[in-house]
Amino acid sequence: MQPKMVLAHETTDFATFAADVRAGLSKPIGKKELPSKYLYDTIGSKLFEVIAELPEYGLSRADERLLREHAQEIVRRIPGDVILCELGSGSGKKTRWILEALSRRRHTYYFPIEISPAALAVCERELADIDSVGIVGLEREYLDGLLEVSARRREGQRILVLFLGSTIGNFSHPADAAFLSEIRRILQPGDALLLGTDLQKPIPQLIDAYDDPLGVTAAFNLNLLSRINRELDGGFVLAQFQHQARFNPETSSVEMHLQSLRRQSVAIAKADITVAFEQGETIWTENSHKYSQSEVASLVAAAGWTCEAQWIDQAWPFAESLLRVQNTQSFNTAKSNMK
Ligand code: TRP
Repeated sequence: MQPKMVLAHETTDFATFAADVRAGLSKPIGKKELPSKYLYDTIGSKLFEVIAELPEYGLSRADERLLREHAQEIVRRIPGDVILCELGSGSGKKTRWILEALSRRRHTYYFPIEISPAALAVCERELADIDSVGIVGLEREYLDGLLEVSARRREGQRILVLFLGSTIGNFSHPADAAFLSEIRRILQPGDALLLGTDLQKPIPQLIDAYDDPLGVTAAFNLNLLSRINRELDGGFVLAQFQHQARFNPETSSVEMHLQSLRRQSVAIAKADITVAFEQGETIWTENSHKYSQSEVASLVAAAGWTCEAQWIDQAWPFAESLLRVQNTQSFNTAKSNMK
């Protein structure tokens, strides 16, 4: 049999991918969706790296600027033997500054947690030149990876978790707070979380960031259909779908969709479905929430974290917040003081 064109290191869990695609596309008109984590295969991860370089998408540069400018201070606030762990490292480019600052102090282990093996490979290469660093990539879902890092820690070691790029904004409410509480529950007093959140900005600027004139973001989103064609023997004709970014003022989110340009049906052999689309019907792929500063504060508090320090980029409003797990002692004291 002629092998299908499947790129190296793709979906490890093929059955789950097929089941998720089937579940998301079996929904009625107006409700069809695909999980955004599947955007990041080899091609998707590379396209996202290009998005991060686009003049219209200032988010990644703002994040990186803040990390570069404040790495020393961030690291100074977490003394001792620190394990660095990153949820969704991508290429690891933004992590360099923190890792350099930590490794100047003592030998440091860095655990990038990524579902994309391609991104993980790039990350390990990108940061390999830093002295006194051990990099152990974990191809896992976020919390599974974090549990593993936490199980490996030795007495007296602290964990600093990086959750950058405003990925938290891709969660719905209140799943965002629930996820931050999960992280906190896995960690111990003295551990920390550095959280990136993209802040509100004018709508036209947001639309440009998520629907750039060069079409890289469109290609990134459409690649999901292409991936279904490659891996699940799907029959999507890409020219019959278009990328759409809409701003929803009620939820303060950019909503990403793939819109069917005509009435059509698409068979996906290995997901065992044929999907009928109306003209104009969309598949929702991702939301990107834009926070106000006070909303960041309430989100963090709702998840039981204490915000120790925060840095804001003025050129592209974006906040980096350093959150701590309070030690139980002072947590109890704070509670009893409130009575
Ligand atoms: N986490 C990124 C963000 O919210 C993801 C992203 C950027 C994205 N552009 C996109 C997701 C386009 C889907 C489609 O900014």
